[in-house]
Amino acid sequence: MTHRAAVILAAGQGTRMKSPTPKVLHKVGGRALIDHAIDVAEGLGCQRIVVVLSAGAPEVREHVAARLGQGAIAVQDPPLGTGHAVLAAQAALADFAGEVVVTLADSALLTPEAVAPLFELRAAGADVAVLGFHATNPLGYGRLIVQGDRLIRIVEEREANAEERAVSACNSGVLAAGAGLLFELLGKVGCDNAKREYYLTDVVGLAAKAGKSVRAAFAKEEVFQGVNSQAELAVAEAAFQRRRRAELMESGVTLPAPETVFVSWDTEVAPGVLVEPNVVMAPGVRIEDGAVIRSFSHLEGAVVRSGAIVGPFARLRPGADIGEHAHIGNFVEVKKVAVGQGAKANHLAYLGDGTVGAGANIGAGTIFCNYDGFDKYETHVGEGAFIGSDTALVAPVTVGAGAYTGSGSVITKDVAPDALALARGHQVEKPGWAAAFREKKRREKAGQ
Ligand code: UD1
Ligand code: CA
Repeated sequence: MTHRAAVILAAGQGTRMKSPTPKVLHKVGGRALIDHAIDVAEGLGCQRIVVVLSAGAPEVREHVAARLGQGAIAVQDPPLGTGHAVLAAQAALADFAGEVVVTLADSALLTPEAVAPLFELRAAGADVAVLGFHATNPLGYGRLIVQGDRLIRIVEEREANAEERAVSACNSGVLAAGAGLLFELLGKVGCDNAKREYYLTDVVGLAAKAGKSVRAAFAKEEVFQGVNSQAELAVAEAAFQRRRRAELMESGVTLPAPETVFVSWDTEVAPGVLVEPNVVMAPGVRIEDGAVIRSFSHLEGAVVRSGAIVGPFARLRPGADIGEHAHIGNFVEVKKVAVGQGAKANHLAYLGDGTVGAGANIGAGTIFCNYDGFDKYETHVGEGAFIGSDTALVAPVTVGAGAYTGSGSVITKDVAPDALALARGHQVEKPGWAAAFREKKRREKAGQ
């Protein structure tokens, strides 16, 4: 297989986002745009990936370095156009002789499948292959000027004449060529144009003039939905959600109101799972077969195992691991707790840091008191234990298997297996007190 490298252009300022967060760190489906772009490059089998950044983007730099290492970063300073940006990656690819695919960093909807036709053209002998699309409104895009099946040049909106502007075939910004040819042609690109920029698109005309084979492949317009503003970010998110919901339903997940269910890039839901209306799944969620996620639940970083029922109105936070056939009911929050098989916490509880054994029953109002303002401590509830309603379990604490805690108890010491722990005031009863009190009050008021 050909060695393949990706150059991802991300040196734009993203000023139209009007956000202190750099554009490519904005998220779609819970994943940063730059990571979506890197995912595509990886999906295309690129052994080398270079991300071109501007000098003033420390957060993006850190983000990319954490995933791909410092060697994957090229800095373009100052940014002088897309062609200049690709040249900025040349040093990082100095020892690379395979083919290079250039992509833009601001689309969350691009997929490896959409780019694949480029490599088919390359495999069929194209020296330069450009990915295009037919735009409903081509305004602002570079136009693909073709002669028969040959691409002869790309003309940018600003340089295009009326006839060229009428062309609906547009440049997506994705292109592939051999590394040697690409950098050789880029060396010849000038900046004699409206923007005084070095246009990557000029390599197409140069290649055609040099008698190279230059071809265009086409993909659906929607995969190039770019993000330049907050409004466009929301449009991209909506398209991403539609796509993921359709994929989930196609795989056998039941979504009676798909438009109200929000998922993330990495959400895993097994076939046959029912996800009721109005559920949000932030990143890191896996739901196994036979589980039901009932309405108005919010899940993040959680596993829901086979046959478990979660919600309505449940909140699963990172580290929640809901065992097979366990029930997590309304207004129950679970964080970093493994809940055993068949265990139940049906109403109003906070379970944070610890474990709940198989078959245990957590009464309404149970709180794992896990935090003293400085550190977190664990609570362990044994198999088959019964935690009475409104029990405060002050961590670190362990309730043994099969033990009971009395309702309203504040449990500060470990409870032995099969014991009953009671930790609440004794009930005092004063016969007739209430009637006498009312009579006294009645007399006082009458006397006024
Ligand atoms: C570019 C293409 C155009 C295509 C369109 C698709 C050129 C000259 N034009 O136009 O044909 O239809 O994309 O969206 O290539 N960037 C850098 N460094 C720079 C300039 C840009 O890294 O110096 C990056 C930007 O961050 C962005 C991408 O390149 O991700 C595209 O740049 P942009 O200025 O938006 O190009 P367009 O004018 O939209
Ligand atoms: Ca653009």
